[in-house]
Amino acid sequence: MDKKEAEERILRLRKELNRHNYNYYVLSQPEISNFEYDMMLNDLIEFEKRFPEFYNENSPTQRIGDDRNQVFVQKKHKYPMLSLGNTYSQDELNDFDTRVKKIIGNDFEYICELKYDGAAISLQYIDGKLKQAVTRGDGERGDDVTANVKTIKSIPLILRGDNYPPLFEIRGEIFMSREGFSKLNAEMEKKGKTLFANPRNTTAGTLKMLDSSIVAKRPLDCFLYHLLCDQLPSDSHFENLEKAKSWGFKVSPHITKCKGINEVFDFISKWDTERKGLPFDIDGVVLKVNSYRNQKQLGFIAKSPRWAISYKFEAEQAVTQLLSVDFQVGRTGAITPVANLKPVLLAGTTVKRASLHNADQIKLLDLHYGDTVFIEKGGEIIPKIIEVDRSARKPGSTAIRFIDFCPGCGSKLNRKEGEAQHYCPNETGCPLQIKGKITHFASRKVMDIDGLGEETIDLLYEKRFIKSIADLYELKKETLIPLERFAEKSADNIINGLEESKNVSFSRVLFGLGIRHVGETAAKTLTNNFRSIDALMNAGFDELMDINEIGTRIAQSIIDFFSKTENLEIVNRLKKYGLKFELSEDEKELRSSKLEGLNIVISGTFENHSRDELKDIIEKNGGKNASSLSSKTNYLLAGNNMGPSKKEKARKLNIDIISEDDFLKMIQ
Ligand code: IVH
Repeated sequence: MDKKEAEERILRLRKELNRHNYNYYVLSQPEISNFEYDMMLNDLIEFEKRFPEFYNENSPTQRIGDDRNQVFVQKKHKYPMLSLGNTYSQDELNDFDTRVKKIIGNDFEYICELKYDGAAISLQYIDGKLKQAVTRGDGERGDDVTANVKTIKSIPLILRGDNYPPLFEIRGEIFMSREGFSKLNAEMEKKGKTLFANPRNTTAGTLKMLDSSIVAKRPLDCFLYHLLCDQLPSDSHFENLEKAKSWGFKVSPHITKCKGINEVFDFISKWDTERKGLPFDIDGVVLKVNSYRNQKQLGFIAKSPRWAISYKFEAEQAVTQLLSVDFQVGRTGAITPVANLKPVLLAGTTVKRASLHNADQIKLLDLHYGDTVFIEKGGEIIPKIIEVDRSARKPGSTAIRFIDFCPGCGSKLNRKEGEAQHYCPNETGCPLQIKGKITHFASRKVMDIDGLGEETIDLLYEKRFIKSIADLYELKKETLIPLERFAEKSADNIINGLEESKNVSFSRVLFGLGIRHVGETAAKTLTNNFRSIDALMNAGFDELMDINEIGTRIAQSIIDFFSKTENLEIVNRLKKYGLKFELSEDEKELRSSKLEGLNIVISGTFENHSRDELKDIIEKNGGKNASSLSSKTNYLLAGNNMGPSKKEKARKLNIDIISEDDFLKMIQ
């Protein structure tokens, strides 16, 4: 092949590869398979090797990165990279709106965008080619990270079309999708390496890596949100972004023109609920005055523009200090480490404790006394520690060590092969386990025995009136009255509560027995399938495993539980006292799969049924009852006095709202 032919081939391959790259990474509409793409890229690599005179810094082959360490050179920004004023309050947004109107009047538009949670980048293009990529730095100067940024496939190295300005800058946010982040962490785990804390920190860290060939393997992406140029194509920010889109940039589809602050509030409330469904993290919304002419009129205060502001969703992360760690013994003997923290405000509540899950988690975090820690509130009530700021650790501080012996009874703890949790093996003798089991049994979600809280159970245990859940049913009013804090009424309460608990359904009684791994849902599955405790007790391992949703862990735990005489004795005594150990006739009848696969949220109060009854009906007919609305919800079962925000949220998520009557018709 002669040189001319080679050059033509190289140029053709580059053009084709750029086109497929754009289809895949910007439009998400690939035309060829990954394999075909890789073959084409390999061809180009070969040709460029054989004909080095045709090297080009913006060839698709440059996206692979280079494993030779680079040094980051500081570059001055042609236009300073400003930060944004931010607020968490709608009142302050109203104030912002008032200030804007005072200066430019009422005739203008806002553009609302998402506030992507990653790392800011400024890209410079000369004659349609990516020249440099610089981080924000101090706003005046940043690090030249061009080699790393070239590996990000959604950032064009060469622009499409020909109507772009000869020299311009475009700014945006580099981020990592949640899926990309999880995959990356799964790989790290496989290799036995420390896991990354969250997509944002991973993005920022990756961008500053010295070896761009590693960056090329990380799933970075980029949304562009700000065009800067001495001669902009349009006076409208919105239209400039549309232009940028046509040149091949990835611009978010969730950009909305708003007339007036009320439409801005609508945009905010929409994304406050829908953000969880996005494939990437956002931490708020950015609001910008659309016209550049208006932007000029408004100008700047200090380092932030007066024409833009960000509204941040309530922070779900906070930084605080680890004071100590408690090791709690649960009712099944599981040991849970809990961190005591210096109190800190997080999403509207003061947080003093955080869950640490198990020994592996402490090790993974490399937790030391006095550490500065990042905490996060997920769906759980108790927040968790997600990362430690090691740079803030005081020299000589001691690492947190998991305990070897049970704080309740001194037994040596054990940990089963393949399980994360440590357990106290002394199931029938450890006071903390026994008290935990009784407290669980009496709790609202289980037997719902009025007046029998943790403190009362502590007292009754210390006085040796109860040693197991069965002993509760031997309690007499006369024994309770002389006890401190007891009076006629409180004693009556407990005795009546115990009597009423004899009507509680079989599945809740089973849940109340406290069999390890048998939670509320597993108990329901088991009672639906076996219908009586005798059938369940006689079931072998295989028979248990035949049931959908019952795995080896639960099956083995049930076998273990019923193989112990102490447990059999408790069950027999409870039977004798009259607790339910089989499905009632009603329950046997009321069972269908009419709601199978449906996710139903209950809200408000109802004419004919309590919420718990409705929940029961949903589950008995194969449906799922979730506590909050999400994109997975199929129906909102709405009663009286339902909050307007819930209704609004259901409407936005397109969820059907049904009445109690509608619901009952569904299962008839
Ligand atoms: S506009 C002068 N738009 O938020 C206007 N910023 O302090 C400058 N960010 O780190 C920024 N999403 O990287 C703008 N849609 C968006 C944004 C956004 C995220 C980041 C930006 C910067 C911070 C603002």
